[in-house]
Amino acid sequence: MNLLNSFLIKILPLFPKFIVYKFAGRYVAGISVKEAVSAVKSLNATGFSATLDILGEHTISKIEARKVTQSYADLYQTIKNEKLNCNISVKPTHIGLDISINEFESNLNMLAEAAFKTNNFLRIDMESSHVTTVTIDSILKIQKKYKNVGTVLQAYLYRTLADINNLTQRQSQNIRLCKGIYKESENIAIQNRTKINNNYVRLFKKLIEKNCYVGIATHDQNLIQDIYTIIDELKIDPAQFEFQVLYGVPMAGWLDRHLKNNFNVRVYVPFGEDWYDYSIRRLRENPGIAGYILKNMLKR
Ligand code: FDA
Repeated sequence: MNLLNSFLIKILPLFPKFIVYKFAGRYVAGISVKEAVSAVKSLNATGFSATLDILGEHTISKIEARKVTQSYADLYQTIKNEKLNCNISVKPTHIGLDISINEFESNLNMLAEAAFKTNNFLRIDMESSHVTTVTIDSILKIQKKYKNVGTVLQAYLYRTLADINNLTQRQSQNIRLCKGIYKESENIAIQNRTKINNNYVRLFKKLIEKNCYVGIATHDQNLIQDIYTIIDELKIDPAQFEFQVLYGVPMAGWLDRHLKNNFNVRVYVPFGEDWYDYSIRRLRENPGIAGYILKNMLKR
């Protein structure tokens, strides 16, 4: 079955997009804002909060970066109008970081203002190590004006402990902690999975000690079990953290368990025209899903 799944993933890009959508669509909430809102409403109705992400990255023109920024600003208004329990996650290069720091910071400012006006929160996703320093510097700058902005830290980077110390010098932070998804060199990033998990646990404890609010973003069940133990041992108030998962990733009963424990769970909900590349990446990370979807399609 494993071989069949891997084979399916390899040949998927050869199929027309509507077939690919049958396999990969579970990882995205659709293409339009209307579809995304409907997905968030369903999640809210079953006890989950959400964060919306318009798919895309590495924007190369100012016109495009500003158009994306405006779409995100409009999204804050929609979230407010529809009374959704939902914030927004944005990739720096989607709103202009590849063009210039000025372009990025000006768009970031506009989004922080939109989040502030609608009583919401802005999460700046973390991309590859080329932009870690500039992302953190811009966050520190924008936080002088707006407190409702936070970023993401990656447990595979050796620098992350120092980044926590830097970020928490002036104020506590709202941080999403993940393992890190980009290919990074062994000079700057831990490569061994067990060591990454150990560092994740260390960083989680540090963030809690620094009084930060932590988004525990992982699907790794062993790691989640370790985090449960720490929550229990340190008697961490559930108001100080939330679990975060990507839309569509199977969690083998953990989401129900979180809710039963009165732990908050936020689902990262990506949507938009750029669904194709994102969904194929998700399937590659979880080939088991391809076989499962094929079986369901054949049954129907
Ligand atoms: P691990 O890789 O061990 O995965 C555990 C299991 O979960 C896998 O065996 C697989 O079955 C399943 N799984 C995990 N990820 C999957 C996926 N994406 N699709 C399908 N199945 C999957 N990274 C980053 O660099 N910057 C960021 O801003 C973010 N933001 C972010 C938000 C949220 C809510 C999550 C959950 C993750 C991120 N990430 C991220 C990605 C993160 O860094 C990491 O690469 C993935 O979550 C995979 O690592 P896990 O901790 O889930 O464990």
